[in-house]
Amino acid sequence: MEKLSFPADFLWGTATASYQVEGAAYEDGRGECIWDVFSRKPGAVYAGENGNVACDQYHRYIEDAALMAELGFKSYRFSIAWPRIIPEGRSKVNPEGIAYYRRLCEELHKKGIHTCATLYHWDLPQPLEDEGGWTNRSVVEAFEEYVKVCYRELGDLVDMWITINEPVCVAYLGYLYGVHAPGHRDLDKALAAAHHVNMAHGTAVREYRKTGLKAPIGITWNPTTPRPATKKEEDKKAADLARAFHTEIFMFPCLGKGYPELVKASGAKVPVKDGDLELIAQPIEFIGVNFYSESPAAADESAVFKYTMKPFWNDTTGMGWPITPGGFERQLLWIAEISKGAFGKSEIPIYITENGCAYDDVVTADGRVHDKERIQYLQQHLAACAESIKKGVPLKGYYVWSLLDNFEWSFGYTKRFGIIHVDFKTLKRTLKDSAYFLRDTIAGFGEWA
Ligand code: FCB
Repeated sequence: MEKLSFPADFLWGTATASYQVEGAAYEDGRGECIWDVFSRKPGAVYAGENGNVACDQYHRYIEDAALMAELGFKSYRFSIAWPRIIPEGRSKVNPEGIAYYRRLCEELHKKGIHTCATLYHWDLPQPLEDEGGWTNRSVVEAFEEYVKVCYRELGDLVDMWITINEPVCVAYLGYLYGVHAPGHRDLDKALAAAHHVNMAHGTAVREYRKTGLKAPIGITWNPTTPRPATKKEEDKKAADLARAFHTEIFMFPCLGKGYPELVKASGAKVPVKDGDLELIAQPIEFIGVNFYSESPAAADESAVFKYTMKPFWNDTTGMGWPITPGGFERQLLWIAEISKGAFGKSEIPIYITENGCAYDDVVTADGRVHDKERIQYLQQHLAACAESIKKGVPLKGYYVWSLLDNFEWSFGYTKRFGIIHVDFKTLKRTLKDSAYFLRDTIAGFGEWA
């Protein structure tokens, strides 16, 4: 195997999200979020589990920062819980919430770790959902209020900002497929949510520019860029539709290209008003990409967006997701191509803000976690990254999902994505073999160790 080689300044990080790791759900003035409420709904989350305790990072961040430092990670991507900062969604600011993120960032800096803060990773304050959540245009003003507080109170400590994590999941998993909070199933609501999420992103960037802060700001997408299942025209069209409705509907307006033609031609009700597209198309410094898997697409007239995913031959992870590093490389090449020239720049830097896999990891008698399959997955996906760099993709960093096993949304604690194992009874952390593999990769050895 050829040695994986990355530029000397490549940014190596791990990622988590507030609701999935923090716990302390009812401490220090945090308000309720849609996941607190959704997880109480019978059948919504595996075994009725929730994020009340999660990995308890709220109290264990010092230990977690030490583990990252021990492994050589240079950056930590975490998210700020909106209901810790503005518990009711509007007006009253909670100083204890701000104090927590200041402590976290200061600790990371003390350990030489750069801070990458996501402003929205799915924990909408419940009072805003009671007003219609992302389907209500006024959520954008509430978001504006919240991000301004974050910039003012945390701006001196954050080294990189991400406005929104995976807009497609916010809009479709939450409002179309009903599998994530708040659990609605309505196409028009989902399209409204999509547009308002795009507007929230634009608003966050516009407001950021007014602060004079210099850290880069961008957004994280999880693009769907499937291969067509066959060479038939209808299947190629299906792959185009998948890209249009799951990916371009979010990326294109943010990159200044407006809504994709296939979406417009479909008659989809995206509630655009005058000035919205200009607001959304704010210049950003980087594109965040979350990649896990790719599937083959085929035409299906009965499906909501007229395409469906077909069976595949690839091995799968513990999520049942096919392992497709080739699809990852193709996707990176595609993103580099379509973002070229946006905002008058020759290229927009890309960061992998999440990549990883779940397996049923166990601590064995030797006190170790021998997660060989995860190491193989990471090797293959890092090889795709290295290859894409060789082909000219401006890829600047890679965050593994996740630092810790954590609350995997509707799957509860059953899916372990961490490079560090968490015993959810004792909260004990155990480094998996994949953590050591990444330590060696960061040090420049990887599979040559
Ligand atoms: C992504 C989410 C992240 C995590 C991984 C497995 O879609 O951003 O929170 O759940 O999937």
